[in-house]
Amino acid sequence: MEAKIQTIIDKYGADKGFLVPILQDVQKEFKYLPREALTHVSVYLGVPISRLFEVATFYKAFSLTPRGKHELSLCLGTACHVRGAPLIGDNIERTLGIKAGETSSDLEFTFETVNCLGACALGPILVVDGEYHGNISITKSNKILKKLGKKVQIDEEN
Ligand code: FES
Repeated sequence: MEAKIQTIIDKYGADKGFLVPILQDVQKEFKYLPREALTHVSVYLGVPISRLFEVATFYKAFSLTPRGKHELSLCLGTACHVRGAPLIGDNIERTLGIKAGETSSDLEFTFETVNCLGACALGPILVVDGEYHGNISITKSNKILKKLGKKVQIDEEN
């Protein structure tokens, strides 16, 4: 891990002005900001670890806990909510065996809910690994989960 972090720091010339891009690269590499990585960045940039935690918690893109290989975000904004998003969320939680905001123990999936993705006309919306899926239904979400390797029963009626 240390060598990878050092490569990222060197890429930015160990310049503390590039703190956010450095943390973005660390997040991209490990899918979260491991404590060990933050300590390393803190020492090499001469930035207090408390400042790193401030930045890490300020930006939603950063995570201090491990993320799954696949990330699913379901919109629960008003427009998506009235079109049945909560039922889809319940089904995803049941299928993955985790609650919204959690990561599966095999680190395959992270599921979270969000408020309005700005594409209400296409709701309900499920974002899977950065790709938007509109007019999502239980069946459609099951098909997506199946494609990602999850065992699910597909009911064509839903
Ligand atoms: S409420 Fe879901 S995209 Fe706006």
